[in-house]
Amino acid sequence: MSKPRRILVTSALPYANGPIHLGHLVETVQTDIWVRLQKMLGNECYYVCADDGHGTTTMLRAEKEGKTPEAVIDEMRPDHERDFADFAIGFDNYYTTHSPENRELSELIYGRLKDGGHIETGMVRQAFDPEREIFLPDRFVKGTCPSCGAPDQYGDSCDNCGATYTPADLIDPVSVISGATPIERESEHVFFKLSNFTDVLEEWVTPERLQSEVVNKLSEWFEEGLRDWDISREAPYFGFEIPGHPGKYFYVWFDAPIGYLASFKQLCEREGLDFEDFWAPDSEAEVYHFIGKDILYFHCLFWPAMLHGANFRLPTSVPAHGFLTVDGTKMSKSKGTFVRARTYLEHLPADALRYYYAAKLGPGLSDIDLNLEDFVNRVNSDLVGKVVNIASRCSGFLRKSFDNALADELDSPEIHDQLADARDEIAGLFERLEYNQAIRRIMALADLANQYIDERKPWVLAKNPETRDETQRVCTTGINLFRILAIYLKPVIPSLVEQAEQFMDCEPLQWSHAPTPLLGTSIRDYEPLLQRIDLTLAKAMIEASKDQSDEGQSEGAQDGADSESVEHAEAALELEPEITIDSFVQVDLRVARIVVAEPVEGADKLLRLELDLGGVTRQVFAGIKQAYDPGDLVGRLTVLVANLKPRKMRFGVSEGMVLAAGPGGEDIFLLSPDDGAVPGQRVK
Ligand code: MSP
Ligand code: ZN
Repeated sequence: MSKPRRILVTSALPYANGPIHLGHLVETVQTDIWVRLQKMLGNECYYVCADDGHGTTTMLRAEKEGKTPEAVIDEMRPDHERDFADFAIGFDNYYTTHSPENRELSELIYGRLKDGGHIETGMVRQAFDPEREIFLPDRFVKGTCPSCGAPDQYGDSCDNCGATYTPADLIDPVSVISGATPIERESEHVFFKLSNFTDVLEEWVTPERLQSEVVNKLSEWFEEGLRDWDISREAPYFGFEIPGHPGKYFYVWFDAPIGYLASFKQLCEREGLDFEDFWAPDSEAEVYHFIGKDILYFHCLFWPAMLHGANFRLPTSVPAHGFLTVDGTKMSKSKGTFVRARTYLEHLPADALRYYYAAKLGPGLSDIDLNLEDFVNRVNSDLVGKVVNIASRCSGFLRKSFDNALADELDSPEIHDQLADARDEIAGLFERLEYNQAIRRIMALADLANQYIDERKPWVLAKNPETRDETQRVCTTGINLFRILAIYLKPVIPSLVEQAEQFMDCEPLQWSHAPTPLLGTSIRDYEPLLQRIDLTLAKAMIEASKDQSDEGQSEGAQDGADSESVEHAEAALELEPEITIDSFVQVDLRVARIVVAEPVEGADKLLRLELDLGGVTRQVFAGIKQAYDPGDLVGRLTVLVANLKPRKMRFGVSEGMVLAAGPGGEDIFLLSPDDGAVPGQRVK
């Protein structure tokens, strides 16, 4: 076996002044899957992150709420941590940039950069709010675009024509904070001489290290020439004061990436790890910063230059991802597609989103779209229909006839090997961030597993006493195929797989477990691992998100949106929402013969039916008592929805649904296939 790798991984630090949303989760889910894979492979891997607390926005928010900035960020952090925990993001440490470790490291790095001759001062003219006596960041000044005349544009660039400029260029500028007309004021700023690092950076930026789109983008920046970077801000500012420059603070983007080091340092101190092992210039460990494509400049130019100038090692790689869109467009508060992590969790299971993101994420920078209908179908057909289904199909026979005991040998070691042999390939796909390909491969294996069960038909074997042992071996094989799929999916859907481990009563699954089947042990009673999800839940989530726009839509506008969603169906045929053929084929319809039909005591609409599906018997409670005389039903054929989740009713468990149509009462017509149909046959 090769030596375990030592790896440190980070996700970009979310701003402390807003809630975690589904866009952030693209990144943390992508990172977390990668980290979980490394841990399952037996590598020594640490995942750290933090809230990014400093800057003008936090300061102004604190003022508005009458709190200290510290109180603002301290209130937000537990919410962020809870959101991430509920999405099973397995940070080894989550900290804040406003920490003593970060102050110390920021001062250390600044001091080393200064000693190395990489810091300079210079005068800067900047917009200043004369009423509030505060320097205004570009985005805190608005006015008319000097290029195209569009009103209400930010001080750095125009949304309408794309022109970039400084706030001084705007026509009729106003301060966003006070509405006053900003004046220009000059002050001394501190600069980091990025241009000193051009050679180091050009050498570091290679296609082996960074994605090709990133390398291309960086080459453009190199061609333009690297400009020195203003790393100071004037008081009042929420941040760390710059040593030797009273009243001046480190710009939030200077100490934010240092927050990666600070969070890791806290972890090292808690767990007795050696910080230097990971960060010394000659370190053999690997360091990865996962980020979104909007913050490449900071992570691929400023940050490596700062590290090099301060005598730390450079990152191994900076994997970047694209942006999340919802139903094809940018997340929008008014459309309800700016969905908070918490709002999602109030409606849908975390693993479903993790799975969907994995199925969509590739190794490049393209945006990924959350299409709600596709999301629901994908989760239902893959996770519920293909994966979880294997466990539910096989466990029943083991429970009923074998007291949950697995056989001592497999019915088909060949198919087991076939699935297990894919482990290196699948690990490689995850490692290279080709999650979409990994999922495709895993689902192809799930199809093979289901085909195997279809061919070996444990439901037929189970009826014949002579094939009793064979039944156990076939079901044991099925459970072990499910186990391999669970191993491969564990980085993606860790909570679901944890339940699966309990069901199989096995130790926590590792990647290396794939080739060795579970034999001769017992499993536990199967309980549904994942329920089908419904589009109405996703729609309710969007509706709930519409109420959260903090800019406060007028009440009238919200009423309008509500009445739109009330449907007045006056057409002759009132239909449920359209479904695709893919959803339809998930309904497993079987020919069934009614062998028992009897009234249910205490229920005036229900009949209890026992249905024969060719050897398997199902009990169903059907609301057809007023339409049929039980005696007339016995012996008749009908069609059963055979994969409907069993439902516990007051009188017993209903294990399916018979197909009937009609308005109700006496007018219900039970579907009755012609004689000659064979019980158990699938209806397609
Ligand atoms: N605080 C900075 C990062 C400092 S790292 C030293 C920041 N914060 S952020 O909250 O705006 O974004 C955090 C991460 O989430 C970034 O990598 C960003 O690209 C990512 N995303 C934020 N919105 C996103 C989408 N809509 N889609 C995908 N990723 C998104 O930037
Ligand atoms: Zn313009």
